[in-house]
Amino acid sequence: MRFDILTLFPGIFQGVFSESILARAIKAGLLTVEIHNIRDYATGRHRVTDDTPYGGGGGMVMKPEPIFAAVEAVRRPELHPRIVLTTPQGRLFSHAVARELSQEDQVILICGRYEGVDERVREHLVTDEISIGDYVLSGGELAAAVIVEATARLLPGVLGDPMAACRDSHANGLLEYPHYTRPAEYRGYRVPDILLSGDHARVARWRRNQALLRTKLRRPDLLQKIELSEEDLKFLEKSTDEKHR
Ligand code: 6GU
Repeated sequence: MRFDILTLFPGIFQGVFSESILARAIKAGLLTVEIHNIRDYATGRHRVTDDTPYGGGGGMVMKPEPIFAAVEAVRRPELHPRIVLTTPQGRLFSHAVARELSQEDQVILICGRYEGVDERVREHLVTDEISIGDYVLSGGELAAAVIVEATARLLPGVLGDPMAACRDSHANGLLEYPHYTRPAEYRGYRVPDILLSGDHARVARWRRNQALLRTKLRRPDLLQKIELSEEDLKFLEKSTDEKHR
Protein backbone atom coordinates (compact mmCIF):
# COMPACT_ATOMS: atom_id res chain seq x y z
CA MET A 1 0.00 0.00 0.00
CA ARG A 2 1.19 3.53 -0.61
CA PHE A 3 0.51 6.79 1.17
CA ASP A 4 1.24 10.12 -0.48
CA ILE A 5 1.10 13.04 1.91
CA LEU A 6 0.67 16.53 0.47
CA THR A 7 1.71 19.24 2.89
CA LEU A 8 3.06 22.77 3.18
CA PHE A 9 5.24 21.61 6.10
CA PRO A 10 7.11 18.45 5.08
CA GLY A 11 9.54 18.91 7.98
CA ILE A 12 6.81 17.92 10.46
CA PHE A 13 7.06 14.35 9.19
CA GLN A 14 10.81 14.02 9.82
CA GLY A 15 11.08 11.32 12.42
CA VAL A 16 7.49 10.07 12.42
CA PHE A 17 8.17 7.49 9.73
CA SER A 18 11.81 6.80 10.53
CA GLU A 19 11.38 5.12 13.93
CA SER A 20 10.01 1.87 15.28
CA ILE A 21 7.23 -0.12 13.62
CA LEU A 22 6.58 2.23 10.71
CA ALA A 23 10.27 2.49 9.79
CA ARG A 24 10.59 -1.30 9.83
CA ALA A 25 7.46 -1.75 7.70
CA ILE A 26 8.64 0.79 5.15
CA LYS A 27 12.09 -0.81 5.02
CA ALA A 28 10.48 -4.21 4.51
CA GLY A 29 8.49 -2.81 1.58
CA LEU A 30 5.12 -3.43 3.25
CA LEU A 31 4.14 0.15 2.66
CA THR A 32 5.47 3.27 0.98
CA VAL A 33 5.10 6.74 2.45
CA GLU A 34 6.05 9.71 0.28
CA ILE A 35 5.90 13.30 1.49
CA HIS A 36 5.29 15.99 -1.13
CA ASN A 37 5.57 19.73 -0.66
CA ILE A 38 2.48 21.42 -2.09
CA ARG A 39 4.61 24.51 -2.70
CA ASP A 40 6.54 22.56 -5.37
CA TYR A 41 3.30 22.48 -7.39
CA ALA A 42 2.59 26.20 -7.06
CA THR A 43 3.45 28.36 -10.07
CA GLY A 44 4.79 31.86 -10.39
CA ARG A 45 7.92 33.45 -9.06
CA HIS A 46 6.70 33.34 -5.46
CA ARG A 47 5.02 29.92 -5.56
CA VAL A 48 2.06 31.25 -3.61
CA THR A 49 -0.09 28.53 -2.01
CA ASP A 50 -2.69 30.60 -0.15
CA ASP A 51 -4.68 33.78 -0.57
CA THR A 52 -7.23 35.94 1.21
CA PRO A 53 -10.84 34.72 1.25
CA TYR A 54 -13.41 36.04 -1.23
CA GLY A 55 -16.02 37.93 0.71
CA GLY A 56 -13.49 39.18 3.21
CA GLY A 57 -12.91 38.17 6.79
CA GLY A 58 -9.70 37.05 8.40
CA GLY A 59 -7.32 34.20 7.72
CA MET A 60 -5.92 32.71 4.58
CA VAL A 61 -7.32 30.04 2.30
CA MET A 62 -5.28 27.37 0.51
CA LYS A 63 -5.49 27.97 -3.23
CA PRO A 64 -6.95 25.17 -5.36
CA GLU A 65 -4.41 25.06 -8.22
CA PRO A 66 -1.34 23.75 -6.33
CA ILE A 67 -3.44 21.12 -4.55
CA PHE A 68 -5.07 19.87 -7.77
CA ALA A 69 -1.66 19.85 -9.49
CA ALA A 70 -0.03 17.92 -6.63
CA VAL A 71 -2.79 15.29 -6.54
CA GLU A 72 -2.65 14.89 -10.31
CA ALA A 73 1.12 14.40 -10.14
CA VAL A 74 1.06 11.72 -7.42
CA ARG A 75 -2.13 9.82 -8.18
CA ARG A 76 -1.80 6.40 -9.79
CA PRO A 77 -5.09 5.93 -11.61
CA GLU A 78 -4.55 2.16 -11.78
CA LEU A 79 -4.52 2.11 -7.95
CA HIS A 80 -7.90 3.89 -7.69
CA PRO A 81 -6.65 6.15 -4.91
CA ARG A 82 -8.68 7.48 -2.03
CA ILE A 83 -8.05 11.23 -1.80
CA VAL A 84 -8.42 12.32 1.80
CA LEU A 85 -8.57 15.86 3.14
CA THR A 86 -7.73 16.19 6.83
CA THR A 87 -10.14 18.64 8.41
CA PRO A 88 -11.96 19.08 11.72
CA GLN A 89 -15.16 19.03 9.63
CA GLY A 90 -14.51 15.49 8.43
CA ARG A 91 -15.88 12.08 9.35
CA LEU A 92 -14.48 10.97 12.69
CA PHE A 93 -11.48 8.65 12.32
CA SER A 94 -11.76 5.28 14.08
CA HIS A 95 -10.51 1.72 13.96
CA ALA A 96 -13.24 1.01 11.39
CA VAL A 97 -12.03 3.83 9.13
CA ALA A 98 -8.43 2.61 9.49
CA ARG A 99 -9.61 -0.88 8.46
CA GLU A 100 -11.31 0.59 5.44
CA LEU A 101 -8.23 2.57 4.36
CA SER A 102 -5.98 -0.46 4.91
CA GLN A 103 -7.84 -2.20 2.05
CA GLU A 104 -6.75 0.51 -0.42
CA ASP A 105 -3.70 0.44 -2.69
CA GLN A 106 -3.11 4.19 -2.59
CA VAL A 107 -4.24 6.84 -0.13
CA ILE A 108 -3.43 10.48 -0.84
CA LEU A 109 -3.62 12.66 2.27
CA ILE A 110 -3.99 16.40 1.77
CA CYS A 111 -3.01 18.24 4.94
CA GLY A 112 -5.36 21.16 5.21
CA ARG A 113 -4.61 24.21 7.26
CA TYR A 114 -7.22 24.94 9.85
CA GLU A 115 -8.33 28.31 8.47
CA GLY A 116 -9.40 26.75 5.24
CA VAL A 117 -9.00 25.10 1.90
CA ASP A 118 -10.77 26.38 -1.22
CA GLU A 119 -14.13 24.61 -1.26
CA ARG A 120 -13.58 23.36 -4.83
CA VAL A 121 -10.95 20.97 -3.47
CA ARG A 122 -13.65 19.41 -1.29
CA GLU A 123 -16.27 19.40 -4.00
CA HIS A 124 -14.31 18.21 -6.99
CA LEU A 125 -11.09 16.52 -5.87
CA VAL A 126 -11.32 14.69 -2.57
CA THR A 127 -13.15 11.42 -1.94
CA ASP A 128 -13.06 11.64 1.87
CA GLU A 129 -12.80 14.24 4.61
CA ILE A 130 -11.46 12.90 7.90
CA SER A 131 -11.10 14.42 11.38
CA ILE A 132 -9.19 12.69 14.18
CA GLY A 133 -11.23 14.18 17.02
CA ASP A 134 -13.27 17.07 18.31
CA TYR A 135 -10.51 19.59 18.86
CA VAL A 136 -8.62 21.92 16.56
CA LEU A 137 -5.12 21.46 15.17
CA SER A 138 -3.47 24.33 13.28
CA GLY A 139 -2.75 22.01 10.39
CA GLY A 140 -3.67 18.52 9.28
CA GLU A 141 -0.09 17.15 9.43
CA LEU A 142 -0.32 15.46 12.82
CA ALA A 143 -3.74 14.10 11.87
CA ALA A 144 -2.26 12.63 8.68
CA ALA A 145 0.53 10.98 10.69
CA VAL A 146 -2.09 9.47 13.03
CA ILE A 147 -4.07 8.14 10.08
CA VAL A 148 -0.98 6.57 8.47
CA GLU A 149 0.18 4.96 11.71
CA ALA A 150 -3.21 3.54 12.70
CA THR A 151 -3.80 2.22 9.17
CA ALA A 152 -0.32 0.80 8.62
CA ARG A 153 -0.43 -1.42 11.70
CA LEU A 154 -3.41 -3.23 10.18
CA LEU A 155 -1.47 -4.20 7.05
CA PRO A 156 -0.34 -7.83 6.88
CA GLY A 157 3.18 -8.26 8.24
CA VAL A 158 3.54 -4.81 9.82
CA LEU A 159 3.13 -6.14 13.35
CA GLY A 160 5.45 -9.03 14.16
CA ASP A 161 2.66 -11.02 15.78
CA PRO A 162 -0.21 -11.44 13.29
CA MET A 163 -2.74 -11.66 16.16
CA ALA A 164 -1.53 -8.47 17.86
CA ALA A 165 -3.81 -6.12 15.96
CA CYS A 166 -6.83 -8.28 16.88
CA ARG A 167 -6.10 -7.92 20.60
CA ASP A 168 -5.81 -4.15 20.50
CA SER A 169 -8.24 -1.87 22.20
CA HIS A 170 -11.11 -1.11 19.82
CA ALA A 171 -10.33 -4.04 17.50
CA ASN A 172 -12.94 -6.15 19.30
CA GLY A 173 -14.97 -3.14 20.43
CA LEU A 174 -13.60 -3.29 23.99
CA LEU A 175 -10.77 -1.49 25.76
CA GLU A 176 -7.74 -3.65 26.47
CA TYR A 177 -7.26 -5.70 29.63
CA PRO A 178 -4.39 -4.77 32.01
CA HIS A 179 -0.87 -6.05 31.30
CA TYR A 180 1.82 -7.05 33.76
CA THR A 181 5.39 -8.25 33.49
CA ARG A 182 8.10 -9.25 35.95
CA PRO A 183 8.69 -8.74 38.84
CA ALA A 184 5.68 -10.51 40.39
CA GLU A 185 5.92 -8.08 43.31
CA TYR A 186 7.16 -4.51 43.05
CA ARG A 187 7.17 -2.18 46.08
CA GLY A 188 4.62 -4.49 47.62
CA TYR A 189 2.30 -4.27 44.57
CA ARG A 190 1.50 -7.77 43.42
CA VAL A 191 0.61 -9.04 39.98
CA PRO A 192 -2.85 -10.71 40.15
CA ASP A 193 -2.34 -14.35 41.22
CA ILE A 194 -4.40 -15.71 38.37
CA LEU A 195 -1.83 -14.49 35.82
CA LEU A 196 0.83 -16.58 37.55
CA SER A 197 -1.39 -19.67 37.75
CA GLY A 198 -0.64 -21.06 34.29
CA ASP A 199 -4.37 -21.82 33.86
CA HIS A 200 -4.87 -20.46 30.34
CA ALA A 201 -8.64 -20.75 30.32
CA ARG A 202 -8.97 -18.86 33.60
CA VAL A 203 -6.47 -16.24 32.40
CA ALA A 204 -8.51 -15.77 29.20
CA ARG A 205 -11.74 -15.35 31.18
CA TRP A 206 -10.08 -12.92 33.60
CA ARG A 207 -8.76 -10.82 30.71
CA ARG A 208 -12.13 -10.78 29.01
CA ASN A 209 -13.77 -9.71 32.28
CA GLN A 210 -11.20 -6.99 32.87
CA ALA A 211 -11.73 -5.67 29.35
CA LEU A 212 -15.49 -5.65 29.93
CA LEU A 213 -15.13 -3.89 33.27
CA ARG A 214 -12.79 -1.23 31.94
CA THR A 215 -15.04 -0.57 29.02
CA LYS A 216 -18.09 -0.34 31.27
CA LEU A 217 -16.37 2.13 33.59
CA ARG A 218 -14.53 4.26 31.03
CA ARG A 219 -16.41 3.94 27.74
CA PRO A 220 -19.94 2.68 28.36
CA ASP A 221 -20.83 3.99 24.88
CA LEU A 222 -18.68 1.23 23.35
CA LEU A 223 -20.56 -1.52 25.18
CA GLN A 224 -23.79 -0.51 23.45
CA LYS A 225 -22.25 -1.26 20.06
CA ILE A 226 -21.11 -4.87 20.50
CA GLU A 227 -22.60 -8.31 21.01
CA LEU A 228 -22.00 -9.76 24.45
CA SER A 229 -22.23 -13.41 25.45
CA GLU A 230 -24.37 -14.72 28.33
CA GLU A 231 -21.19 -15.06 30.35
CA ASP A 232 -20.18 -11.46 29.58
CA LEU A 233 -23.57 -10.14 30.62
CA LYS A 234 -23.58 -12.18 33.82
CA PHE A 235 -20.16 -10.84 34.72
CA LEU A 236 -21.14 -7.23 34.04
CA GLU A 237 -24.30 -7.53 36.11
CA LYS A 238 -22.46 -8.61 39.21
CA SER A 239 -19.48 -6.30 38.78
CA THR A 240 -19.77 -3.01 40.59
CA ASP A 241 -16.04 -2.99 41.35
CA GLU A 242 -14.74 0.58 40.96
CA LYS A 243 -11.07 -0.02 41.69
CA HIS A 244 -10.14 -0.66 38.06
CA ARG A 245 -11.30 2.73 36.88
CL1 6GU B 1 -7.89 16.23 10.46
N1 6GU B 1 -7.29 18.73 11.03
C1 6GU B 1 -7.25 19.78 11.86
N2 6GU B 1 -6.74 20.94 11.42
N3 6GU B 1 -7.69 19.77 13.10
C2 6GU B 1 -8.19 18.61 13.52
C3 6GU B 1 -8.26 17.46 12.72
C4 6GU B 1 -7.80 17.57 11.46
N4 6GU B 1 -8.82 16.46 13.43
C5 6GU B 1 -9.07 16.99 14.62
N5 6GU B 1 -8.71 18.26 14.69
